[in-house]
Amino acid sequence: MAFLNDNFLKLKAGYLFPEIARRVKTFCDANPEAAKRLIRCGIGDVTEPLPPAVVAAMHKAVDEMASRETFKGYGPEQGYEWLRAAIAKNDFRDRGCDVADDEIFVSDGTKCDTGNILDILGGKNKIAISDPVYPVYVDTNVMAGHTGEANEAGAFSKLVYLPCKPSNGFIPEPPKKHVDVIYLCSPNNPTGAAANRPQLEAWVKYALENKSVILFDAAYEAYITDANLPHSIYEIPGARDCAIEFRSFSKNGGFTGTRCAYTVVPKSLNAQTKSGEFKPLHPLWARRQTTKFNGVSYVIQRAAEALYSPEGKQQVRALIEHYLGNAKILREGAKKAGLKVFGGVNAPYIWVRTPKDVTSWQAFDKILGAANVVITPGSGFGSRGEGYFRISAFNSRANAEEVARRLHTLKW
Ligand code: MLT
Repeated sequence: MAFLNDNFLKLKAGYLFPEIARRVKTFCDANPEAAKRLIRCGIGDVTEPLPPAVVAAMHKAVDEMASRETFKGYGPEQGYEWLRAAIAKNDFRDRGCDVADDEIFVSDGTKCDTGNILDILGGKNKIAISDPVYPVYVDTNVMAGHTGEANEAGAFSKLVYLPCKPSNGFIPEPPKKHVDVIYLCSPNNPTGAAANRPQLEAWVKYALENKSVILFDAAYEAYITDANLPHSIYEIPGARDCAIEFRSFSKNGGFTGTRCAYTVVPKSLNAQTKSGEFKPLHPLWARRQTTKFNGVSYVIQRAAEALYSPEGKQQVRALIEHYLGNAKILREGAKKAGLKVFGGVNAPYIWVRTPKDVTSWQAFDKILGAANVVITPGSGFGSRGEGYFRISAFNSRANAEEVARRLHTLKW
């Protein structure tokens, strides 16, 4: 008899977004007329086509694959050197951050990388996670056996939850006690809050003093509009010695279906062995990726490289402006509807307080049933997300305007 991984049984519900899709399908099957006017602002999935520079690079790369002379088989698991070099230069060195080409590991997604990184971290770490938070961080730690059971509110024992609330601007503060691994996401999914320099400095200081590792998810970095906000944790002195950064091409280049991302593991970042020696994490991640991952396809890496061309950069900017324009419309629409609104300025997500004593899932049902709009219930991101919902700005302009109108006419 084979044994299963009991840790999976601790997970109370299905993964948030498939669960929402299931509920939406049930609603649409039962209400075919409403289904026709349904607008999805739930999962943060891009809607606009790939930038033309990307499409051209993909066509060219496909042609290369069609000829014996230029065909490519297995590529380097960490990514082709030309893409790693373009990333390190454009996203880091040009912004004054000290990141070498070979500290970049190209992958197929930040969701995968933030889960897979646990392979190279020990099982006894004290893990700190914001609440609310992107559910992957919690769920992957549950799967890896790093938690106990969940309580009624869905909070798992053994995790240290860092409350994110209006009074701290939804940016978690370092805890008073010691933790070994800290997940930070800025700009934040789901709250849309973005950490400023002093806030990140406090975290780097804490991590250096405690010899902790920060897992910094910057998948929404391109949405930062405030010139004073850091785009990378490596803008903070000392971060190279305590932080891994995750980036994605999903939300800037529109690669949610195309799949390409990367993780930065500085060579100066160490963690402790059981016997108390400090050893670098970089070779462990390289070993993990070469063993368990075959790299991103050549065509897609060429597509990602095109995002760094002058036209690519301009086209990405236009995409970001489009989604941020939607965010503004949705923010203002929700405000006019009398709702208390956060985020949506440096992020493509609007975080909304539910009115009266309406719970997150009640708000989801109400907005789906009465306005035929799909949002994400805040409680799906953690117990402190209860009483909120998230509106995604990834949509067409016409849909964003229509959602703003429908929110306005909604009677709670
Ligand atoms: C979200 O809606 O939170 C994101 O789209 C999920 C993801 O990026 O995996």
